[in-house]
Order: sequence, then structure tokens, then C-alpha cells
Amino acid sequence: MTVREIKKDIYAVGAVDWERRLFDELIPLPQGTSYNAYLVRGSEKTVLLDTVDPRKEQELRDHLCELNVDKLDYIVAHHGEQDHSGAIPAILELYPEALVLTNAKGSVLLQDLLHIPAEKFRVVEDGETISLGDKTLQFIFTPWAHWPETMVTYLPEEKILFSCDFFSSHLATGNLFVQDEGEVCPAAKRFFAEIMMPFRAAIRNNLAKLANLEIQMIAPSHGPIYANPSFIRDAYRDWGDDAGVKNEAVIIYVSMHGSTEKMVAYLTDALLKRGVGVKPFRLSVTDTGELAAALVDAAALVVASPAVLAGPHPLVAYAASLAVALRPRIKYAAIIGSYGWGSKMVEQLSALLGSLKAELLAPVVIKGHPREEHLAALDDLADQIARRGTGTL
Ligand code: FEO
Repeated sequence: MTVREIKKDIYAVGAVDWERRLFDELIPLPQGTSYNAYLVRGSEKTVLLDTVDPRKEQELRDHLCELNVDKLDYIVAHHGEQDHSGAIPAILELYPEALVLTNAKGSVLLQDLLHIPAEKFRVVEDGETISLGDKTLQFIFTPWAHWPETMVTYLPEEKILFSCDFFSSHLATGNLFVQDEGEVCPAAKRFFAEIMMPFRAAIRNNLAKLANLEIQMIAPSHGPIYANPSFIRDAYRDWGDDAGVKNEAVIIYVSMHGSTEKMVAYLTDALLKRGVGVKPFRLSVTDTGELAAALVDAAALVVASPAVLAGPHPLVAYAASLAVALRPRIKYAAIIGSYGWGSKMVEQLSALLGSLKAELLAPVVIKGHPREEHLAALDDLADQIARRGTGTL
């Protein structure tokens, strides 16, 4: 991707990673991603805001060369994670006079993660400003969006917020700016679910901290720039509001011989008949990012499994662990499933789901193929979920 000017003397110099399909060896990237870095030229000083993943560092070097950047005063490191900081050592080699601007926690992290010498840092404080001449950088700490050191930079003269991961989307696109909110919103929601959801309380605090800033543009570190940022700020407020769940159930399941599948199909219909939205995920073919995004809205989680060696199917145990780790807004959960000769599924899955801080409803775990009384138990479970969803319990 070539260099592009956002506004006069402000450039996008990062890289689009069209082909990457997995992040952290965990997070699927069906639409690729980008590592956004920005160059701001003031009348006196020049600053690079974030770098790129090391796999794209040559692209960043080429972009700085294309812009004839012969002197770099500062590199702002908003976040220690290597998809943004990983090319800092290479850029410091190119511009040995540059100082890395970050907060105290960021400085320690980058010394440990990248072995950048302590003397290369200038530590900034929350709210501190640094003049570039005709432009100003204002640093605002936004801890736990999504590491402890994360911060953002506000450029008051242009009313641009450089937000790093905050408000990002894993989306490889040739569009510098958001063209279609309908396309970007699902990608941003996935990103929120996978990265920010566990830190909702911190996200709410950080949104409140930014509330009084006049922000005309948000330039994140992944995905396109928001020239009209109100929709993503509103979406973050909605997704982060603990009272904002929908009357929806997510069902995660595996079925080996059809019994659990039949229970899931019956429960799905029973919930729909009662006005509860349902999103079932057969885990053997599930994109975990889609599952994470569904968990943003759901009030209920149903975990459905056959027994494998008396415990839950490993795919179910994995997905349940992931769901718990993401700390969704789930209010109530249930375990259903089927076994052949014996089962410790309820004990093991209950222990796992205990960390959700959700009400655990009575399980429906049966031996073999479901009979009429088992289907009646699923109707009863659907009643319980529906009554809780409509607040009529
Ligand atoms: Fe995009 Fe937390 O790094």
C-alpha cells in the first residue's frame, strides 16, 4: 500500500496485510488486517505515530523514504504489542536521533519485549502536550484498551484522535477512510469482542475520558480511518454497556451421533417460539471470531455437548473456555447434552462456567437419544430463558 495524505502534512504510512489469516495463533482474520502508522510533520518537528508488525517493516521504511523523511524527532508508541511496536528498533536504526515517546509502563514493556535501550525513551505523562511547532501532540492514557500501558494521542489543531487498537477493525482494505459503515461495523464489533470485551469497565472509563474532546476523525491502528467517528463511538458505548444485552441465546455445540444435535435443534425452535433470538454454532465449523461477536449481545449461553471419555467434547471445553475468557455480558447459562455410558460433563462444564458470573440454570443432560420427557425438559429450559429475557421471572 502506498503513502497517502490524510490532511496536509499528515500521512498514513503503515501497511495492509491482505493475506494474514490468524493473529496471536488464535484470532481468525477472514478479511486480513492492517498495521496503521501515521507521520505528522510539524513546522519544527516530525513524529511517527506507531510502527508496523515486523513482517511489514520494509514497507514502512519505504514509505518514510518516499516522503523524504531525513530526520525523525519522535516515535510515539501507544502500545507495546508487537504489531505496532515491532518495527521500532528498525526505525531507530534508520533514525538514531529519534526518541520514543511513551508512558512509564510502555517504556518498561518495550525495554523488555524489544530490548530498546532506556536512553531512547522520553516518558510522557497523562495529559502532557508536546509541540511540533504548528501542531501539538496531547497524550491521553487509556489503560486496558487493551494492555495496561495503552494510550492515545490527540492532535487538537486538526481534531484527530490517533487511537491505536481502540476503535480498530481487522480489515484489509484499499479504502483509507470508512466508505461503508455497514461493512466496517461487523469487523469493528469482532475486534471489540476479541480484544476489548474483557475490559469493558476500563473501556467505559476511557470513553468517558474522551467524551469532552472534539473529535472530527479517529485514526486507529487497524482498519480504515473514521472521518465520521460518531457511529463507532456510539457502537462502543452500546457494546460496553453491561445493561445492554439483547433477548438472545448463543448455543455452542458439538454432536457426534445426532443426539445433542437433536436437542439443540429442539431448543432452538423452542426459544424462537418464545421470542428469544438464537445463534447456534456447530463448533466443528465455527469461526471463533463470529462466535465472539455473537457473545457481545447475548443474554444467555447454552453449552451443548456429547460426552467424550465421560467429560465434555474437547471442542466444547475449548469454546466454553474461550467464551469465559472473553467475559461477555451473559446473564444466564445452561448445559445440555447427551452421553452413552457415563458423564462428568455437568461437573466439569459448571466449574468452567462458574467464572462467567452468570446464573447457571438447571442442566438437561440425558442418556442416549432424547425421549419425550427430555424434550419437555428442554421446553422448560426455554421457558426459563424466555422469562428471564423478558424480565417476567
Ligand atoms: Fe493491535 Fe494490541 O495490538
